Amino acid sequence: MNDSQHLDELLASRSDQARRPIEPCTMVIFGASGDLAARKLIPALYHLTVEKLLPEPFRIVGFARREKTDALWRAELREALNLFSRTKPVKDAIWDGFAQNIYYCQADMAESAGYEKLKTLIASFPHEKLQSNLMFYLATNPSQFGEVTAHLSAAGLLKKAEGRVTNERIVVEKPFGQDLASAKALNNELTRFTHEKQIFRIDHYLGKETVQNILTFRFSNAIWERLWNRECIDHVQITVAEKIGVGSRGGYYEEAGAIRDMVQNHVLQVLSLIAMEPPASLEAENVRDEKVKLLKSIRVMTPAQVTENVVRGQYFAGEVDGESRPAYRSEAKVKPNSNVETFLAMRLHIDNWRWSGVPFYIRTGKNLPLGASEVRIQFKSAPNILFAAKDTLDANSLTLRLQPDEGMTLRFNGKVPGGTTELRPVRMHFSYDSEFGAYTPEAYERLLLESMAGDATLFIRSDEVETAWRIVDAIHQAWIGKSLTNREFYAAGTWGPAAAADLLAKSGHEWKNPQPRH
Ligand code: BG6
Repeated sequence: MNDSQHLDELLASRSDQARRPIEPCTMVIFGASGDLAARKLIPALYHLTVEKLLPEPFRIVGFARREKTDALWRAELREALNLFSRTKPVKDAIWDGFAQNIYYCQADMAESAGYEKLKTLIASFPHEKLQSNLMFYLATNPSQFGEVTAHLSAAGLLKKAEGRVTNERIVVEKPFGQDLASAKALNNELTRFTHEKQIFRIDHYLGKETVQNILTFRFSNAIWERLWNRECIDHVQITVAEKIGVGSRGGYYEEAGAIRDMVQNHVLQVLSLIAMEPPASLEAENVRDEKVKLLKSIRVMTPAQVTENVVRGQYFAGEVDGESRPAYRSEAKVKPNSNVETFLAMRLHIDNWRWSGVPFYIRTGKNLPLGASEVRIQFKSAPNILFAAKDTLDANSLTLRLQPDEGMTLRFNGKVPGGTTELRPVRMHFSYDSEFGAYTPEAYERLLLESMAGDATLFIRSDEVETAWRIVDAIHQAWIGKSLTNREFYAAGTWGPAAAADLLAKSGHEWKNPQPRH
């Protein structure tokens, strides 16, 4: 597909903004024997059943090569649910009813016979919508996307939507490409048989309650908008810290590194929600337009700017919570002299009217002391003229804690009671749990419902993916052939390499680490 056809599809997506009611539907999972179905998809669908949110009737078909019967697959999924369900114990009465809707289609993704078998199975379902309202979930390697959609199309199961009504959708997981060129190639492959508006690209961060709440928080409260700009904000820090190491995913991680695994998608998504302009409405395309506009305003770095603004890190052996962790270079399937980053910190510049001159610092890493994601808005200091403690007076900050212990904290200075003018920073804290009770639906529950409803707000549009790759590619290319320096290694269980602290110190800033909350 050429660029102008692509643009046509984007424009057509914009004109089809109506969210449809959730109707009876069949969901086909390709790569059904994999981890994703057992860990995420089936638990999410089970909970949607518990909450009576799934359409009635509903069918799930697992498409995979291994020989097994419906009964065996159901039994395997039941066992996995015991492990991965967010609520326990699993309710037998609900599972038994839910499991009746699960079918297994043993077939090879590469052969057309399998798709004919799938077609026959779908045609046997006892409701017109179950036969026509189809969601294809590609939990496969991206290299198979083209093949699967071509076969689905040849079998008449997937029709490229030309008009307004879309009956078939495909849902795809990250990684969406390895760089801009491969992402474009993937987009082109998918859009041979589907229209852009039929493609739902998942970034599970967008399914997280607190990430969605960024927009509500910013745009339903008039007070923030007045402060949300370069006049009042000194800088912004976004930290997505993980306690886990690379574990058994060394092979994948060697190709990805933190920049492709976390920054290209999750971190840039959070950043775009924090920094975007108010959308014209909350319709999918209006929100996505603003996110793309913001991503396009992020300065794409030259190699010299990468050296100046980006720090890689890699963990060596250490301890997290008293448990010893091996060095990244000793993890399974990792090269012993690997320069792949397990940590990344950078300063981004957003060249637009609102943010010009405000640094956005982002960092993410594995094997850090705490698993927590936070956005810290650091406001400018008050003019330091009135108080004796002026040199130590704290600038105000607002921290949005995205996970865990979701909440927000506003930090300001208060007078210590007594006859002096001693000041001390104090905090005002809002916690989701205390206010609304513990309610933490899995991101996939929301994302599956939205894709059934055909609402693309929480999914990534092709131009969004490509713009994010443009930013990331420039950085990645500047690293080619460069080894990590000593200041870029960190012990597992620490907050990253010394070079990450240097990066902020150059501008008189310092990282504020997320704190455990009780
Ligand atoms: C995934 C990455 O997309 O996100 C993983 O591939 C990472 O490496 C995970 O651990 C983090 O997600 P969450 O929801 O645990 O913050």
